[in-house]
Amino acid sequence: MTLTLSEIEAMSRIPRLTLINAITGYKSANLIGSIGADGVPNLAIFSSAVHLGSDPALLGIVTRPVDGAIKLTRHTYRNIHHNGHFTINHVHHSMVEAAHQTSAPYPDEVSEFEAVGLTPLWRDPLKAPYVAESRIRIGLEFVEEYHIKANNTILMIGRVLELELPDGCLDEAGNLDLKMAGSVALSGLDTYHDTQVLHRLPYARI
Ligand SMILES: Cc1cc2nc3c(=O)[nH]c(=O)nc-3n(C[C@H](O)[C@H](O)[C@H](O)COP(=O)(O)O)c2cc1C
Repeated sequence: MTLTLSEIEAMSRIPRLTLINAITGYKSANLIGSIGADGVPNLAIFSSAVHLGSDPALLGIVTRPVDGAIKLTRHTYRNIHHNGHFTINHVHHSMVEAAHQTSAPYPDEVSEFEAVGLTPLWRDPLKAPYVAESRIRIGLEFVEEYHIKANNTILMIGRVLELELPDGCLDEAGNLDLKMAGSVALSGLDTYHDTQVLHRLPYARI
């Protein structure tokens, strides 16, 4: 089957959104923890976490369109701007439903932690909550953002300040055993996957 640009553009909004969200394949499932000026801890599931470089260690997340008044209702974006810190927390297979529920549009005064039954975990001096139930946690400091003009989304870049990993998941070569950590993968906006290692290959040389 081939879908041409005009056929893709002719699709109705929801099926197109569903297809294009899944078309790059499996993605990471992460919860972004933050807190705003109102002191309400915020949590939201994001599939867009991406590695941008290792020295310094930089990661990015892409926020949905942020323009005009919407800026204030994008809590993750607003909070990271407010205090400059955020966390990225892997979704463990035991918390998939709670993690998914954080995508609901809760009002400003409701913390998703309470609403979905996950536990905020604070570690000085990071000014953003981790998720206690996550096994792999990353603390970050906001560095800069890029406005993607084509659709008003924003790539927010953070520098890694701290990593929390379960015992036994990291070897001396720096390999992280995601299977042992119980992290899940995501496709589209609603499908969570367990994973299976096929091969681990040596560094490719000519
Ligand atoms: C599986 C899944 C992945 C998502 N990934 C992203 C993402 O990468 N970026 C984003 O802005 N929203 C993403 N969302 C939507 C947010 O979770 C949702 O808009 C949430 O309400 C944002 O919360 P906030 O306003 O507290 O930041 C995703 C939703 C689901 C269900």
